[in-house]
Amino acid sequence: MTKTVIKLENISKKYGSFLALDNINLEVQNGEVVGLIGPNGAGKTTTLKLIAKLLRPNSGKILLRNIQGELQDINKNSKELVQTGFFIDIPQFYNATPYRLLKLFAKIKHYPKEKINQRIDELLTTFNLIDWKDKKVKTFSKGMLQKLGFIQAVIHDPEILFLDEPQTGLDPNARIDIRNYIRFLKQQGKTIFVASHLLYEISEVCDKVALINQGSIINFDTIDNLEKNLKSIELNFEVLNPIPAEMLGSLIKRLTQNLEPYLDKELDPSISKIPIKYKPQENSFTIFYNGVKKARGDILNILFNDFKSDFTIISFSKPKTSSLERIYSQIISDDNKKKIKINLVRE
Ligand SMILES: Nc1ncnc2c1ncn2[C@@H]1O[C@H](COP(=O)(O)OP(=O)(O)O)[C@@H](O)[C@H]1O
Ligand SMILES: [Mg+2]
Repeated sequence: MTKTVIKLENISKKYGSFLALDNINLEVQNGEVVGLIGPNGAGKTTTLKLIAKLLRPNSGKILLRNIQGELQDINKNSKELVQTGFFIDIPQFYNATPYRLLKLFAKIKHYPKEKINQRIDELLTTFNLIDWKDKKVKTFSKGMLQKLGFIQAVIHDPEILFLDEPQTGLDPNARIDIRNYIRFLKQQGKTIFVASHLLYEISEVCDKVALINQGSIINFDTIDNLEKNLKSIELNFEVLNPIPAEMLGSLIKRLTQNLEPYLDKELDPSISKIPIKYKPQENSFTIFYNGVKKARGDILNILFNDFKSDFTIISFSKPKTSSLERIYSQIISDDNKKKIKINLVRE
């Protein structure tokens, strides 16, 4: 049995003479949740459409796991491939009811007949559409259709799920519902490949991130490993009571002394000139530290023990989003510079 369930081998895709994907290679292991992140036009949707066979690559091969547990070309004997689900665009639903539409999809995908009704009810309940089960979709809002599109992608309980911007355009509650459902699928050992430009949503659910820019994968790793490329990493902690202005200078001095071994020694002045900052509006401190995991524990211990009489910590966190945003913008901008250089050399 291969651990790899999705493999893209040297995939290139042109639209006319425009090279939208340039020799993409990617492997996703069973049970991983992988985010494909990149700016608009990077090639995310194209990648998913190729896997869904909505488009054909100009060169390269796409392999998925089959029921024997081996990797198999998606163009060969597709009945043997493990079940996949796709949410790429909101499907063009016929003007039927969710119940009828989902029943049809489930049948097409050979979901066990006797379980279909219960499955439909469960999913419609999870996504707050149960009251609409027997209403025609003509009257649905875009967000409701999008949720129905997501349900359609998972109705047959696929082993591998492909999602393109599943949360864009949804209200916050629906976004949370989708995110929680992705987590639930992950717990069940499903493999999920999700393209998005919403970094926050991605960082919340993904084990690994593939960064795509101008048709090339420029990095593929865990968020922790990608962070190692960052020049410095932030930690935030919030305190119960505001720090009086006259105490602040000496407090920051003591903090800097006590936390010295863990602070970022080469802090980029464009990010911050000092390694510990206080934001009075939020009663919170930001520490730029060396990014070592264990250091976070040591820092918390020191804050807790040495500064007991100075403040009460009410939250302590490494903001995932902001570091992913910085990884993203740093890596993409480095890559763009590199590409410009290459083009200059070519010309
Ligand atoms: N049908 C098409 N015809 C021509 N160009 C296309 C077509 N679809 C996408 N493109 C171009 O290919 C590039 C990648 O698009 P896409 O995969 O949709 O990017 P993303 O989903 O990352 O925003 C973009 O430059 C886009 O303009
Ligand atoms: Mg897209």
